[in-house]
Amino acid sequence: MDISHIEHIGIAVKSIADNLPYYENVLGMKCYNIEEVADQKVKTAFFKVGQTKIELLEPTSDESTIAKFIEKRGEGVHHIAFAVPDVAAALAEAESKGVQLIDKAPRKGAEGLNIAFLHPKSTHGVLTELCM
Ligand code: CO
Repeated sequence: MDISHIEHIGIAVKSIADNLPYYENVLGMKCYNIEEVADQKVKTAFFKVGQTKIELLEPTSDESTIAKFIEKRGEGVHHIAFAVPDVAAALAEAESKGVQLIDKAPRKGAEGLNIAFLHPKSTHGVLTELCM
């Protein structure tokens, strides 16, 4: 798999508004985009750190996987997203090497990216996203 860089780190939060002072005033980052991803039932806020982004994920429904994650494990790092040149090819490679997939095919994520998740059962507990 030809990973070029960490595209973003996803962090589950109860409230983006409550997190902004920490990221902006303490860490000195600037939130450049807030976007709702309706089919994932989340609101996202983005910050850039070099070529990597921090993606805050706030659930917009109790049915959201982010709401369930926070309920079980509290706020914190949710997933790591690697940039690959071809998500479908990377998924096929992962599957051929015995990795269980959450997404059999790429779908649309925030910021118009093509994204797909590998199952944390197959990735030693780290929810892993491939995107481009
Ligand atoms: Co992500």
